[in-house]
Amino acid sequence: MPMQRLPTSTSKLVTCAQIITSVSSVVKELVENALDAEATNIDIKLEGNGLDLIEVKDDGCGIAKTDMPNMCLPCYTSKVCGYEDLDKLQTYGFRGEALSAICSVADVTVTTRTSEDEFAMAYAVNDCGNIVTAKPSHLNKGTLVTVSGLFRKVPVRKNYLNSGRRAAEELKRVDNIVKSLAVIHPGLRVTFRHNKCLLWQKSACSTLCQSLMQIVGHFVSSKLEELLLRETELSVDMLVPRRETENLAVLCLSNVDCMMLYINNRPVRYKKLEKMVLKYISECFSGQPLTHKYPYCLVSIVISPGEVDANLEPNKTRVMLKEEI
Ligand SMILES: Nc1ncnc2c1ncn2[C@@H]1O[C@H](COP(=O)(O)OP(=O)(O)OP(=O)(O)O)[C@@H](O)[C@H]1O
Ligand SMILES: [Mg+2]
Repeated sequence: MPMQRLPTSTSKLVTCAQIITSVSSVVKELVENALDAEATNIDIKLEGNGLDLIEVKDDGCGIAKTDMPNMCLPCYTSKVCGYEDLDKLQTYGFRGEALSAICSVADVTVTTRTSEDEFAMAYAVNDCGNIVTAKPSHLNKGTLVTVSGLFRKVPVRKNYLNSGRRAAEELKRVDNIVKSLAVIHPGLRVTFRHNKCLLWQKSACSTLCQSLMQIVGHFVSSKLEELLLRETELSVDMLVPRRETENLAVLCLSNVDCMMLYINNRPVRYKKLEKMVLKYISECFSGQPLTHKYPYCLVSIVISPGEVDANLEPNKTRVMLKEEI
């Protein structure tokens, strides 16, 4: 076949299906957008394991009417102006890609209202990110993004995610992602529903410890102690098993998800940090081996954004530090 340029809709679908790989990546991007909009309330609703419907509603700043036409277009962002801004990044988003990518693999409607608007508007967006209809709607200040028919145009992916066991695993992944974002924002209220059933909720509280308690329960959180390190360029908050805990095994799971690691409020998977935390905890509990077990803990590191590169992978959960630890 002679070489030819792919139609835009095809090339977009191909690349976007790499950014939005699953239900959990959609939910993660939408919740991160809500947090970037300084929401204090986020309601998440899934139907049919998220393949039928994903809704994320926030009470954040909303989207200005002038920004609406560009919101779902690739490379449009209100969060950075140039590469150098990544050195002072305070937001989860920076690429201006997430909504555009979601639009190309699903049907998207955005309802939004800023404090300046008299009423909300609901915008239906097509797969290229262009607004196709706009009509007045009911919503207090904030934004509601509705995503339906996810991967309708990528049937192999849809069938894969739809099979019983995988759908349950994916729902668990969504649950984990939302919980990890919820915990690190104590002041945030979150509800999480699937098929109209409220799976869990977190109310606003004032400390990381109270926040974690709502997610992992009193039994675990009461057995953790808080350690703080404050230096000019670095701050570390840790919630780790109390040294006097007699049986560390009751605070361990075989799944690494119970170790919640954050760099600048971004939940991260960072092998070196994970190993350091494991080493520290096992040293505190000398004689209680941690083989194939992970202790419940939370480690939140805050450093200058210029020290972190979060632009390694499309899902931004792996990061690189300038000064490798
Ligand atoms: N819930 C929301 N509330 C307010 N504004 C929003 C919301 N969701 C999206 N936006 C606006 O739409 C823009 C595009 O969002 P999108 O997620 O595609 O990109 P981003 O967050 O800037 O970068 P990234 O692709 O890294 O997530 C944002 O920059 C923001 O201005
Ligand atoms: Mg975003």
